[in-house]
Amino acid sequence: MYYFFVLFMFILSILATSFQKLMKTYFDISGWEEKKHLQTKGTRDKSVVQNPENGEMYYFKTSIKKDKKDYKYEFWSEIIASKIGRALGFNVLQYEIANKSGKIGCLSKAMNKENETLTEGISFLTAYDNSYRPDSKSSYSLYTLDLICNALKCFNIERHIDDIYRTLIFDFIIGNSDRHQENWGFISESESQSFLEKVHQHLKKIPIVKKVIRLILPRTYHFVSGWFIKKKEKYRFAPIYDNGCCLCREINDDKISLMLHNPQKINAYVDNQSKSEIRTPDGNKYKHIELMYEIKKRNKDFFNSEINRIVASYDEQKLREIVYTIDNALPNQFAADKLPKERKELMLKIISLRIDRLRNLLK
Ligand SMILES: Nc1ncnc2c1ncn2[C@@H]1O[C@H](COP(=O)(O)OP(=O)(O)OP(=O)(O)O)[C@@H](O)[C@H]1O
Ligand SMILES: [Mg+2]
Repeated sequence: MYYFFVLFMFILSILATSFQKLMKTYFDISGWEEKKHLQTKGTRDKSVVQNPENGEMYYFKTSIKKDKKDYKYEFWSEIIASKIGRALGFNVLQYEIANKSGKIGCLSKAMNKENETLTEGISFLTAYDNSYRPDSKSSYSLYTLDLICNALKCFNIERHIDDIYRTLIFDFIIGNSDRHQENWGFISESESQSFLEKVHQHLKKIPIVKKVIRLILPRTYHFVSGWFIKKKEKYRFAPIYDNGCCLCREINDDKISLMLHNPQKINAYVDNQSKSEIRTPDGNKYKHIELMYEIKKRNKDFFNSEINRIVASYDEQKLREIVYTIDNALPNQFAADKLPKERKELMLKIISLRIDRLRNLLK
C-alpha cells in the first residue's frame, strides 16, 4: 500500500511539472545559446536562440525603438494579440514573455520544423509579377488583394485565399497595420526553398548586385524562383505571426488616458484612423473597416460564417481575464515593463467595439 502511495505521488509530481512547463508564460532565456548565423529579417532587435532543455529554436524580439518610434509596449501587443486570437479560434503563433539578459520582449517557438521552410508572401508576389519591387516606393501602391489572390492562383494555392481573408479579419479585430508581404507565408516540407530564400536574403543585403542581376537576367530570376515555388505541393498556411503593430501600441500613456474617457476619439480611431497595409485599387491604404466590406463583397458566405464563428466565441469576461493577468508572470524587478491598467482597459474597449462592427456587418 505504502509503495502504491509513493508511486502515485511520484506520478502526480511528474504530471504537475509537465503541466507547469506546458503553461509556462515567462521564460528567462539569458543562458540560451544565440544562433548568430541564423539571422532574421524585420525591423526589431531580434535573435534566434536554442532552448537547452529540448534543443528547439525560438525567436526573441523586443519592442521597436528606432528614430521617433519608441513603442515600449509593443511586445505586449504581440503577446496579447496571440492570446486573444487563439481564444477567438484563430491559428495565431504563440508568443510568451521573455527576459534576455535584462531585456524584456516576446518569444515564439520556431513555426517551421528543421526539415521545413517558411516561404513568405514576398517570394510569391515577386515571382508572380516581376515588375513588383516591394522595397521600392513606386511599388507600394501595388500591394493589393488582387495581386495576392492572383499570385496564389498562379501557384495553384488559391485554396488559401480564405486564409488571407481570415488573417485580415484578425488584423481588423486587433487593429494591426503591418500585414506586409513578409508578414504572412507558407510552410512546406522540403528545404529546397530555403536555398531560394537564402539567395533572396543575400541579394537584399547587397541591392546593387540584385539590381544588376535583375537587369541582366530578369526573366531567369523570376523563372527560377517561380519554378522553385511551383515544385512545392504540400504548402500549409503559416500560423499568423508578427501581429505586434496593434492594440494602440503607438499611442503614448498621456493620450491613452485622454482617449479612454472620450468615446468620440475611440470611435474615430476605430473607424477612420485604423488602416491596413493592403492597398485599394487606387493605391491608398484601406481603412480597416473598408477592407472588411471588400472581403464581404468578394466572398460573402465565407465572411458571414467566419464572423458568426468569431462572434460566437467572443467572451468579454474571458478576454478581460487574459488582458488583466497578462503580466502577472513578469518578475517584480521588471515592474516598469508591466502594462498600465488604463492601456489594458483601452485595448479591451477597442476590441469590443471592433467585434460590434463585425456583428453589424452580418446584417
Ligand atoms: N517563430 C518563428 N518561426 C520561424 N520564423 C520566424 C519566427 N519568428 C520570426 N521569424 C522570422 O523572422 C522574421 C522577422 O520576424 P518578425 O516579423 O516577428 O519581426 P519584425 O521585426 O517585427 O518584422 P517587421 O519588419 O515585419 O516588422 C519573420 O518574417 C520570419 O521570417
Ligand atoms: Mg515581420
